[in-house]
Amino acid sequence: MSTPEETAPYGGGAQTSPPATPVRRVRTHHLRELKERGERFSMLTAYDMYTAEIFDEAGVEVLLVGDSASNNVLGNATSLPITVDELLPLTRAVSGSVTRALVVGDLPFGSYQASPEQAYLTAARFMKEGGAHCVKLEGGVEMVPQIERLTRGGIPVMAHIGFTPQSEHALGGYRVQGRGATGSRVLDDALAVEAAGAFAVVMEMVPGDVAAEITQKLTIPTIGIGAGVDCDGQVLVWQDAFGLRTGRMPRFVKQYADVRSVLLEAARAYDADVKGATFPGPEHTFEV
Ligand code: KIV
Repeated sequence: MSTPEETAPYGGGAQTSPPATPVRRVRTHHLRELKERGERFSMLTAYDMYTAEIFDEAGVEVLLVGDSASNNVLGNATSLPITVDELLPLTRAVSGSVTRALVVGDLPFGSYQASPEQAYLTAARFMKEGGAHCVKLEGGVEMVPQIERLTRGGIPVMAHIGFTPQSEHALGGYRVQGRGATGSRVLDDALAVEAAGAFAVVMEMVPGDVAAEITQKLTIPTIGIGAGVDCDGQVLVWQDAFGLRTGRMPRFVKQYADVRSVLLEAARAYDADVKGATFPGPEHTFEV
């Protein structure tokens, strides 16, 4: 039996106790079955071991190791700078920490657009080195060759249409996509990615009525982020949803917690204890 001193001092390693009952893994086909039964599912981003464990335990079906790690973990202004080599270890941390959730590896900007072959080689790294169960890529009609190549090669693909953050500069900034006459373009993208073999599609910043029509027309599940309540699933970036990030939020974000304040208060209490010599106490101090 380990003594307290022998336990890992700084955390680390898988610490989850085995589940009481065997847990069935969420597979891509389960999401389609949920859609067929009219049941919703949830998806969150996760970029590390502890959040992956917590969101998995909460029953969230899908965890996305998003390229949004670029601006939510690495401190970049946008999702564009993150590289495959930066995102792979985060993907490994998440895939190694879940017992049930489906883990999606997000292909970074520039790592799949050049050709179907480039897409396959990048996606294969996310599956082999990152332990992802599937990958996500941004784009509609223009990504059909990539989606066909990946699915033919045994890699399940989640597509991402509507506002696609990697194309922020091409799209002229953060804008709702599919308003007015351009609604049919989003529908064309949705139908194209489904026909190419995608198992699900994220729709970002699309008017609710357009997303509802697409959800009704597709047999694969739709996952909304700023796309109204009629999608089959919903996704949010966890730092937005749980209040680690502050400042101006997109309209589609609902804040469920204020994690930033909890951490700030804890850090201030620790700092005061250290400076006031009330930490460490005798109970934290080894004897001879
Ligand atoms: O990277 C990400 O977090 C995403 C979500 C916004 C869907 O792509």
